[in-house]
Amino acid sequence: MLLCSKPSHHNEMFHFPKKLICIFSTLFFILFLYILFNGDDIIEDQDSEYLYRVPYPIMRNSNNESWIKSENIAIVIVLAEGVKREYYKIAINSVECYAKAHGYQFILTHDNVWGCDYLKDKFFRRHCVISKILPKYEAVLHLDADIGVVNQKRKLQEYMNPQFDLIFHDRHFSPEIGMASYIVRNTQYGLDLITEFSNYEKKLPEGSFHGTDNGAIHMFLAEKLFPHNLIELELCRRAWRNSQNVADQFAYTSCIRSLFGANTDFGKVRILRKQGTGYVRDDWLTSGIWSLDRDFMLHGLKTDHLKKVPYGPLRVSPMSQTSWYSPFEGDFDMERCVLGNTTWNHNPRLIGTREDVECGLRMHEMKIAVKKVKYMSRLYSLLSNCYFWRLFQSHFWFIFYY
Ligand SMILES: *[C@@H]1O[C@H](CO)[C@@H](O)[C@H](O)[C@H]1NC(C)=O
Ligand SMILES: *[C@@H]1O[C@H](CO)[C@@H](O)[C@H](O)[C@H]1NC(C)=O
Repeated sequence: MLLCSKPSHHNEMFHFPKKLICIFSTLFFILFLYILFNGDDIIEDQDSEYLYRVPYPIMRNSNNESWIKSENIAIVIVLAEGVKREYYKIAINSVECYAKAHGYQFILTHDNVWGCDYLKDKFFRRHCVISKILPKYEAVLHLDADIGVVNQKRKLQEYMNPQFDLIFHDRHFSPEIGMASYIVRNTQYGLDLITEFSNYEKKLPEGSFHGTDNGAIHMFLAEKLFPHNLIELELCRRAWRNSQNVADQFAYTSCIRSLFGANTDFGKVRILRKQGTGYVRDDWLTSGIWSLDRDFMLHGLKTDHLKKVPYGPLRVSPMSQTSWYSPFEGDFDMERCVLGNTTWNHNPRLIGTREDVECGLRMHEMKIAVKKVKYMSRLYSLLSNCYFWRLFQSHFWFIFYY
């Protein structure tokens, strides 16, 4: 608004258009604020307070932890060609130390040594690599390199179930299934699905903001699981093709998710609801605070985003997506990471109660649920592809995103 109050030093000729610009920018700004904060009344509704306090049902089968032997499970991290371990040092050390403590196989590899180079997109290449490694084990946990284990006492088997060949999870900060991690079992179905998915690269809609593998998994799974819903599939596919920005991408994702509905289990595929019931979640959602009772792995631990834990009290609320605090005290001593050593040194300031952590996560989940409704409201225009509306949106897409 500074623009409006500044005295004009220019001659009269430009006075009128300037005024117009000023009026329009003000109107636009008000519209922007309205759209930005519209939705907060839904979030701050009195009933929400109750919703934030409902505990997450954590899915765990602790009664049959050893139905797959740990030595037959591989934890696999696929780095793109040339990427160094150093870049994810703390996260990778924690995963390797965890694997050693429980006797899981730990595999850190690059994506250029598995015959997957025919794939252009590194995000698809890593799934190709997983499909090459899987046949040697009973199950594989695929992890992005910036995922670390914080709760070393948990066992992977707790999150697995003989009924499912593939276990995915919903991301907490978007309406998406996250491809940063999944568990796949070495069955014909599991192997075929991952192999076929890695080749789905060629079906990415050209010239669209498609979201690579994270966007593709939705169309891919929907085609697999709901092959008879041709009309819905076609409409969502058009939305995907027309997508020009991240808000469009999420509108497309929401389109597919409406096909999935409220279920989590689809034959041999399970999609864990939000990360609240899963085994991994984003670290920044709770400013790095985690709970021994519920958390297992944290996502987003890149070495050059590491920040010092600030002095003073910490709040369980979202912080910048590009910062995190180390949950550990000191470095990992890899020599001492041996079978049975599950005594790690954590920074006690970052350990919170289950109630506080879950309340923080629920509040974020509510925000995303409201956003999802907003994304859905974009679908019609995304499908009709009206030229001027699209032109306007392509410049101001952020209004619809936030
Ligand atoms: C536990 O796992 C074993 C080995 O797969 C299986 O035979 C048994 O039925 C499982 N028990 C339960 C309670 O699921
Ligand atoms: C277990 O491993 C951690 C991580 O390297 C190390 O800090 C700790 O001292 C080890 N504990 C024992 C008893 O060796």
